[in-house]
Amino acid sequence: MQLLDGKKTADDIKNEIAAEVQSIKAAGGKVPHLAAVIVGSNGASLTYVGSKVKSCQQIGFDSTLVALPETITEAELLDKIKELNEDDNLDGFIVQLPLPKHINEEKILMAIDPDKDVDGFHPTNFGKMALDMETFIPATPFGIMQLLERYKVETAGKHTVVIGRSHIVGRPMSILMSRKGNPGDSTVTLTHSRTKDLAEFTKNADIIITALGVPEFLKGDMVKDGVVIIDVGITRVDDASHPKGYVIKGDVDFAEVSKKSSFITPVPGGVGPMTIAMLLQNTLLARKIRSRK
Ligand code: GUN
Repeated sequence: MQLLDGKKTADDIKNEIAAEVQSIKAAGGKVPHLAAVIVGSNGASLTYVGSKVKSCQQIGFDSTLVALPETITEAELLDKIKELNEDDNLDGFIVQLPLPKHINEEKILMAIDPDKDVDGFHPTNFGKMALDMETFIPATPFGIMQLLERYKVETAGKHTVVIGRSHIVGRPMSILMSRKGNPGDSTVTLTHSRTKDLAEFTKNADIIITALGVPEFLKGDMVKDGVVIIDVGITRVDDASHPKGYVIKGDVDFAEVSKKSSFITPVPGGVGPMTIAMLLQNTLLARKIRSRK
């Protein structure tokens, strides 16, 4: 069993990006600038957005945190997005999800200029991804593809089972793994909450990518020997014995499943750190595309 070390791989990628920032600076160019919009005070969202901004600072990007109150109206948020779209100093921005219930998420994502949509959530970018065109790949799926590539995990001709059909992870993952190329060329089954007898699929999978959000859902008897496991789950589970009052659990029963795996991502330290590295990679791409114009 080999661990797919997302922390180390993300650090490698961040170092590569930091080196590119240095050469942009040395050539007198403009460094990439990312803004992150957060609405309200959801604990997990604040942590993620804080890490995104901190990572920008570490690698030499400019960054802006736009913190807005829970009570902001949809119209006010749309105004803010218009302002960010028009800000020539900004290469890319993200609006952290989920948004409060009174705001229509789809409407907000549709309002982001596709050229600045470094999350890759806009239909234009999602469509380009499905058509193999150059675009921003959503950060979590992009990070998984990088882990598979850098650890030379064989994906061609393999049966990949994706669990979960979210727009952020499962759906794009199913598209990317079925695309031509490496990683890719997989035969993909996309499973979800209405799938009957999920274990029949997972037991026949060469690669399982799970983004369900149910702690330790995938057990040892649901997988075959030699399986590759990508665990996207990051659920906070109350634990009074821990200083923070919670622990982070993945979708996979690591103790059981790791014994049968050829490769497996730990939680934490697997897919999570990769997501931020790939957001930075997308922001660098946004800067490069803008500098060509
Ligand atoms: N919420 C959970 N994951 C993400 C992400 O990748 N981007 C944004 N904007 N919100 C998220």
